[in-house]
Amino acid sequence: MIYLDHAATTKVDPEVFAAMAPHLQDEYGNPSSLYALAGRSRAKMEAARQSVAAYIGADPSEIIFTGCGTESDNHAIKGTALAKRDTGKHIITTEIEHHAVLHSCEALEKQGFEVSYLPVDQYGLIAPEQVAEALRDDTILVTIMHANNEVGTIEPIAEIGAICRERGVWFHTDAVQSLGKIPVNVDDLNVDMLSLSAHKIYGPKGVGVLYLRKGVRLPPFLDGGAQEQGRRACTENVASIVGLGKAVELLAQRGQQDNTRIQTLCDRLVEGITGQIPHCFLTGHPEKRLPNIASFIMNYIEGEGMLLSLDFEEVCASSGSACVSGSLDPSHVLMAMGYPHAVAHGSLRLSLGRENTEAEIDRVIDLLPPIVERLREMSPLWADAKSKGEV
Ligand SMILES: Cc1ncc(COP(=O)(O)O)c(C=O)c1O
Repeated sequence: MIYLDHAATTKVDPEVFAAMAPHLQDEYGNPSSLYALAGRSRAKMEAARQSVAAYIGADPSEIIFTGCGTESDNHAIKGTALAKRDTGKHIITTEIEHHAVLHSCEALEKQGFEVSYLPVDQYGLIAPEQVAEALRDDTILVTIMHANNEVGTIEPIAEIGAICRERGVWFHTDAVQSLGKIPVNVDDLNVDMLSLSAHKIYGPKGVGVLYLRKGVRLPPFLDGGAQEQGRRACTENVASIVGLGKAVELLAQRGQQDNTRIQTLCDRLVEGITGQIPHCFLTGHPEKRLPNIASFIMNYIEGEGMLLSLDFEEVCASSGSACVSGSLDPSHVLMAMGYPHAVAHGSLRLSLGRENTEAEIDRVIDLLPPIVERLREMSPLWADAKSKGEV
């Protein structure tokens, strides 16, 4: 099998698994209890908090463990709305956010909040001036992702953060995809809140982080016990938190080296695919992009067909199109970038990770052209383009 869907999730690193295992068996103490068994769980959990905080330049007291990146996004947005509803009801975001952000904003619109969804350019890039122009006296939050999960475009978060700070507006970024791929430092990025998720960095599923800058006070995520400084009650998911801490430590140790290698493989993949397949191009920004995501549009075919053919060859990939989930809507990200419906349907995302090899990349470069050719031969869009002399 060749796994090229690391933006969807990653395999738990063996070192992460080894760090977690004792906490699923003998080291099962509840961190809130008072005996030594519990103290050891608490110590491991706090060490994980330290690791995460150090990696993103935060103070450990600013790190809250959550159940996933989606929860972190939901809480940053809905928590701000609740905390600030007497000051204003306006929120700014973009059209290309993850659904965890978009649907949180839509839920707030139903409760009387007003949301500005900023458009992006053809590369999926937002300009800081757009944010400056959209800010109003009643704006309570700006939430813009650090890097896009479908096309990999990196947004100018530090510049946007500086604008928000000057205007006294809280700024949240979803850094779920960027963590470990490019520097994520809360001070450099000028953010007040930041969301992370462990399963994109070779950690376990079902654990995330919300960074909350000192002074940013949100109502509790969950009411109950005093865990996470009373901000998110529930007995902590100790094993997963320890796994997240280990995953972040590994990023600190080997992330840079991994990324250099992954970038080279990704460039090879892009060159190989765009060089061999006609009417195929890379989406997202040509330079301001994550090192591991290569997204393409193959004109005249549907992403779903490519995914099924690749799956038959044991290659795991993804398409921006939501066809697989039963909807015929193409990706909201590609639509926002200005691609017409029919074109946006032909998207393919290949996202690389630390275990990919050059041989795997070369195999995909060999496999894909005949797949695309065969699908085009069956495609009415291709027949139509041929009859019009377009191809
Ligand atoms: C940009 C972005 N935000 C949020 C999420 C959600 O993270 P989780 O799966 O931990 O809820 C994802 C996952 O695909 C993502 O890519």
